[in-house]
Amino acid sequence: MTSPKDMPKQGRDKIDLEQDLSGLKKPSGRDAAFIVSETEEDAIVNISLRPSKIKEFIGQSGVVDNLKVSLDAAKKRGEPMEHTLLSGPPGLGKTSLANIIAHEMGTRITTTSGPAIARPGDLVGILTNLEAGDILFIDEIHRLSTTVEEYIYPAMENYEIDVIMDKGPYAKTYKFNLKPFTLIGATTRSGLLTAPMRSRFGILYHLEFYDVADLVTIITRSAKILNIPMEESAALEIARRARGTPRVANRLLRRVRDWVQVKKDGRITKDFTEEALKAHGIDSMGLDNVDRKVISVMHESFGGGPVGIESIAATMNEEPDTIVDVVEPFLLKIGFLKRTPRGRELTKPAYAHMGISNSSFAEKKLL
Ligand SMILES: Nc1ncnc2c1ncn2[C@@H]1O[C@H](COP(=O)(O)OP(=O)(O)OP(=O)(O)O)[C@@H](O)[C@H]1O
Ligand SMILES: [Mg+2]
Repeated sequence: MTSPKDMPKQGRDKIDLEQDLSGLKKPSGRDAAFIVSETEEDAIVNISLRPSKIKEFIGQSGVVDNLKVSLDAAKKRGEPMEHTLLSGPPGLGKTSLANIIAHEMGTRITTTSGPAIARPGDLVGILTNLEAGDILFIDEIHRLSTTVEEYIYPAMENYEIDVIMDKGPYAKTYKFNLKPFTLIGATTRSGLLTAPMRSRFGILYHLEFYDVADLVTIITRSAKILNIPMEESAALEIARRARGTPRVANRLLRRVRDWVQVKKDGRITKDFTEEALKAHGIDSMGLDNVDRKVISVMHESFGGGPVGIESIAATMNEEPDTIVDVVEPFLLKIGFLKRTPRGRELTKPAYAHMGISNSSFAEKKLL
């Protein structure tokens, strides 16, 4: 099964499609890079690299161990799994895990996303089509509208949904009984989820960035599936620059492979990897042009902060969401940014990495 992003256009909701097209009309920053670098072939390759069984899912041992227990318990009881919320930055495996849960439970999975369920009617259609034990996967669940959310609560709690027909004095409520199902929600921003929504999930898993060793395993597995001969040191080099993110690791692997294909034996070496990644603007920490732009804008326009994301985004002519979802979590993780009550601030290691002298940093702090 695929996430809405991976699905062919005709299988997707009209509203979602319109949003996509408007996004395509005005690509910006990381989206622009994404559109240029993710080809149709990439999308297909992505699906082939997605782990489908729990034993193929590498890393995240805390989440995986707990999940195994929950799966076993649900199977023993002969009941669907509890509603599960998966949160964490993009590309860490939320969609993969949802599909793995369906595979392990031996159930069907219906995939949709918060913005795709525009009206309560859309939700009723989806819910009433679910069979007993089915999984409903809602990606970007924090983007569900409040009205739709209200309809989901009784569905999650009692497997029923109330539909109000007509308006005013003629309004009538119809109750639909649903088959027991599992809702799996995925979000890059669990903080934006409403409290009533969050409290209805029995299981909450937060995915963390992967360590280099796990990324090496993921890259080696992908290289094997894609039949790419690669030296171990090259896998390590890609892993070190993959921003702790399997999707980025797989993407870098493919870019390096393209680069290497001009070589005689096509074998990926460490030197070639370094050269290829440099040519794609990926530096030694795995930062790309957008990451570095954020740092330089913070330094040049805001004296290193504290500054709000909105201001950084406006200066870069970039969507604040891109910065909050994609850029910021990794910069926070590697300690290049810190959050303060007054906004984001650059740290010493960020200055050091960008080659901005310590003295100018010290001066700035003294002012
Ligand atoms: N633990 C893992 N082991 C192996 N490969 C993984 C793992 N997690 C993710 N991947 C790879 O990374 C790709 C992206 O994962 P996935 O689409 O599940 O991320 P996501 O968290 O749903 O991202 P988004 O928030 O952007 O939807 C997958 O196609 C898969 O190849
Ligand atoms: Mg996903």
